[in-house]
Parts: sequence; C-alpha cells; structure tokens
Amino acid sequence: MSNIKFDKSTIPDLSGRVVLITGGTGGIGAEITVELAKKNPARLLFTGRSAASAEKTLERVRQSAPAAASAGTVAFVPCDLASLASVRDAADQILAQCYRLDLFLPNAGIMAKPAALSPDGYEIHFATNHLGHALLTKKLLPLLERTADRPLPGAASNDPPRIIYTTSLARKGGSLGFAGGLRTTQESALLGRWVRYCNSKLANLLYARELARRHPKLLCFSVHPGVVTTGLVTDLKLTDRLFVRRPMSARSSPRSRALSITCGPLALLTNLFNRVASTSRLAS
Ligand SMILES: NC(=O)c1ccc[n+]([C@@H]2O[C@H](COP(=O)([O-])OP(=O)(O)OC[C@H]3O[C@@H](n4cnc5c(N)ncnc54)[C@H](OP(=O)(O)O)[C@@H]3O)[C@@H](O)[C@H]2O)c1
Repeated sequence: MSNIKFDKSTIPDLSGRVVLITGGTGGIGAEITVELAKKNPARLLFTGRSAASAEKTLERVRQSAPAAASAGTVAFVPCDLASLASVRDAADQILAQCYRLDLFLPNAGIMAKPAALSPDGYEIHFATNHLGHALLTKKLLPLLERTADRPLPGAASNDPPRIIYTTSLARKGGSLGFAGGLRTTQESALLGRWVRYCNSKLANLLYARELARRHPKLLCFSVHPGVVTTGLVTDLKLTDRLFVRRPMSARSSPRSRALSITCGPLALLTNLFNRVASTSRLAS
C-alpha cells in the first residue's frame, strides 16, 4: 500500500450519500472531511471534542466546498469517545439527523498517552480508540443495515454501506491479554503507553473483522493510513517519536506534509469505494 499514487480527482461523487467520520476536528479526519465535502454528499457529519477545532474544519469546508457549506450539508456533532454517555448522546444526534448512512469512518484516536482511566473506568486508549467506536457502531448498525436494504437509485448491487476503521501498523505489537482486566490503567514498566496504543489498534482490526462476519450486508474494513505528520505524531516527546516508523526528518516541506495527510487515507478510501464486493472483507 505504501506506493499508492493518489489522485484526489478520482474520489467518486457522493450524491445522495450520507457520511459520518469521527475525529474530523483534526489530522487525517479533518482532511477527509474537507475532501469528501467537495464530492456533493447529501449529508456529512464529523465528530470530535473541540468545538474550536470543529470551527476550523468548517471554515476549510466553506473555503473549498462552498456549495456544501451554504447548503448546510456538513455539520459537527460533539462526541467524547472516552465517555460512553457522550457517545450515546452523539449517536442520538446522528440518528436524528440521518435517514441513511452510506459511509462510516471510525477514525479518531489517541496515541501513547500517560496511564489513565476513562470516565467509565476503562484504560484510556482502549476506551477512546475501541470502546467508544464500538458503542457508536452498535448504535448505528440498524441504520447501516437499513441503508443496505435501500440502495440509491442506479447504485451497483456491490456497493453496500461501508464501515472503515482507522487502525495502525502498531496493531502488530498488540495483544488482548489485559492482565488485571480492562478496568485498570494497564501499566507496565517498559513502553507501557505504546503497548496500550497497540492493543487498542489491534482491537480496531479484530472488531472490524468480526463485524464483517456478523453483518454480511455491510463492507467492514480496517486500514492503516501510513505514517502521517499530524498532531498524533507531533505532540509526542522526542524520545517517543523514535517509535514512529518514519522519522519526522524524512518530511521535506509543509506542502509535502499536507499531501501526505491527504493522500494516505484518501487513497485507501478511493480504493474501497471502487472495490468490487468480495468475500474478503478485511484489509489488515
Ligand atoms: N498519524 C499517523 O501517522 C497515524 C498512523 C497510523 C494510524 N493512525 C490513526 O489515525 C487516526 C487519526 O489519527 P490522526 O493522526 O489524525 O490524529 P490527530 O491529528 O491527533 O487527530 C485525532 C482526532 O481524534 C479526535 N479525538 C481524540 N481523542 C478523542 C476523544 N476522546 N473523543 C473524540 N475524539 C477524539 C481529535 O479531536 P478532538 O481533539 O476534537 O477530540 C482529532 O480529531 C487514529 O485512529 C490513529 O491511531 C495515525
């Protein structure tokens, strides 16, 4: 996947389709929100915690997709994935605003944070990256299933709703042993915060795989976007950056960074849009 040459103009038109992305307030999710807004979706919702960052994404949409902005197509839904109550509220808001859901991108995430518990008492990476998304998915599954039963006029039969989790190559370092149980900070002497991130990304992949098995009317994937210079990486301490596969110094200019942010995930998206439904529903 690393050598994909991506042309944004190949992103298909989204007329009639409803899209939801988590983490649209920053990084990869903000880039995807802005690019998909240009493709005439019927509705495009994005989530995050920061209203100020959401406003920045909306401003970018106003600049680059004025038609979508003036039609009120793109909207922010506040959601703290670490809080199950917040996820329930967000799901209710989404369900109230969406009559169908064609593309669901559970993308938001945190990485290598200090040991902590979520408000509900779960390890914070597992709570944010996996549990919150799992609850949101569960709440939205009936809508996704209904959407599968109501294809858009002219849509191909192999074009069902998609759920695409943003996992990471870091999943390779994960295991789901959880010594002490899920309701602990999962501290370990060595590299604990990386182990906790790896575990949550493995959970993303396994959850997508199981969803695909249980919901054959949907296309469920997990994708690694490549290493992208977002806040996820730049907020790391210098020593932690050593664990990110491509060193920061490999980046040449802000423009190349922006292209990298845009191209990695969108290349994968386009691939998935164009993909003929197949028996293999897992990208790992
Ligand atoms: N960047 C990379 O190189 C890379 C590589 C592999 C995988 N990934 C994966 O890609 C995904 C996106 O990462 P990114 O690089 O775009 O990171 P980012 O720039 O840090 O953005 C993270 C997004 O997640 C949201 N978020 C964080 N905590 C949240 C919470 N508790 N509740 C709701 N939203 C929350 C943030 O919004 P708010 O702050 O507004 O809440 C933000 O929109 C993650 O799942 C990450 O694991 C990234």
